[in-house]
Order: sequence, then structure tokens, then C-alpha cells
Amino acid sequence: MKIIQLDPSLTYRPEPENYLYRNYKYGPLVDRVKMTYTLMHKYQTLQFVKDKHVQWCTRTHRRMSVMEALSLLDNLVDESDPDVDFPNSFHAYQTAEAIRKVHPEKGWFQLVGLIHDIGKILALDNEPQWSVVGDTFPVGCKFQQSIVFSDTTFKDNADTNDPIFSTKYGIYKPNCGLENVLMSWGHDEYLYKVLTFNDCTIPEKGLYMIRFHSFYPWHTGGDYQHLCNEKDHKMLPWVKEFNKFDLYTKTEELPNIETLRPYYQSLIDKYCPGELKW
Ligand SMILES: [Fe+2]
Ligand SMILES: [Fe+2]
Repeated sequence: MKIIQLDPSLTYRPEPENYLYRNYKYGPLVDRVKMTYTLMHKYQTLQFVKDKHVQWCTRTHRRMSVMEALSLLDNLVDESDPDVDFPNSFHAYQTAEAIRKVHPEKGWFQLVGLIHDIGKILALDNEPQWSVVGDTFPVGCKFQQSIVFSDTTFKDNADTNDPIFSTKYGIYKPNCGLENVLMSWGHDEYLYKVLTFNDCTIPEKGLYMIRFHSFYPWHTGGDYQHLCNEKDHKMLPWVKEFNKFDLYTKTEELPNIETLRPYYQSLIDKYCPGELKW
């Protein structure tokens, strides 16, 4: 059964009424965005994702603190994002500060807002952006229409005509749970794996938000219910709660990072201190 999700922005919309986020049809950045998704949908196959897990889940690439990783995002502009054209580090603080206003007592949630995109440092280690950023989707089963640009971009994907991978369930059992589904490779899964490997104490719902925040075909499109289990249904409201801050805080008004840093350092020290293995 497909459930159409309510727009998560209903309770949080600081943007002007006529501003349209996630507009993939027109706008100054649309060509760059479409090129990123075209490459992503051509090359992200089941085998590609398995290879990326092997390549990036060794935890031997870097040793650095969360704050250091965050600073690296000063050098990264997300080429899949039609809404912003400034370094990702600003987006981190914008998201965290908006969560802090609405959830002042939930330090762990604010921290999730701050760090949710730091897996994008993959792009600074020679990983192409189409293997790092953008909306995610399951591989090993049929690519659904709720995936952005999917009407044209999957025709050259090697899995599109595979007799198993092209079926609704593909390699998965009904309602197997998203934790058991291989998602297209990107910054969500990478950071989730880094945090769990390093024994970070962010609550499970926070880790879940990080792992699936880019899975728009599910949390906003309402698709892939046939792969979800009870836990996914229970976690969905948290992912949607996070999503509205991730999306609707993207404004050109940039925060003063220097003054905010000490507060967020204290959250990092509490939940994921010291040097992490990446
Ligand atoms: Fe993200
Ligand atoms: Fe984000």
C-alpha cells in the first residue's frame, strides 16, 4: 500500500510563500543538478554499492574529530542541490540552529542537524559527487518513479534490465526493513557507519535520521512501503521532523559560525568526542 505523506513543512515554513524548494524543472542551478543525477542513476548499481561499502567501510581513510570534518565542508558545494550555492558548512549550522529554536532541550537532535551532511567529505577524497550527494534510493530492486528524474535517467543503468533487480522486490523479502536494504551509495550511509563504528552515543532515532535523511522517495514520496517494517514506520515521523529543518533553512542568510562553535563543540564532546576513525 502506498501512503502519500503530508508535506513535513506544514509546521515549519520560514520561507516566502511563493518560494519553491526542490524545484528540479527550472532555476539557475538546474543543469548542474540534472547532470549529477544523470551520472548517479547511470552508475549506481547493486555491484557499485557493494564495492563502495568495501572501499569506504575500512575506517582507515582518515583520523579526525567531528569538528575537523565539519570544517572541511567549507570547501564543498553540493552539486545536487537546486536550492543553495554556498559551502555546506553554513547549511550545517543553519539546520542545527533551526532545530535548537524548536527543540532547545534536545542537544542530540541539534547535533544531528549540525553533522548530518559531514559524510560529504567523501567528495573531497576523490569520490565523484554523484556517489556522495543527492537523494538516495534502494538498489537491487526496481527503481521507482518517485525518484527524481527517474523517467529518463535509469535507462543506461546496468540493473534496469536485470531479471531480478528490475522486479518490485528484487533481492529483498517483503517488509524486510530498510536496515536490510542496500541504498545508493552516499553521505548518509557513510556517516551512519562512521558513527556506529566509533561508538557515538547519539540516540538510535538520531542515527536513523542521519542514515535515511536523503531517502526522499520514501520519507516524502511515500514509496517503498513494501520494504519497510514496523521500525521504519515508527522512525518515519522523526525523519520527517528532521527533514523540514534540513530543507527549509536553506536561505542566503549565513550564520556566524565563530560565535556558534563553542556551543556545538560541547555537544560533540558529549556524543561523539575525540578523534574518530573514518
Ligand atoms: Fe544530506
Ligand atoms: Fe542537509
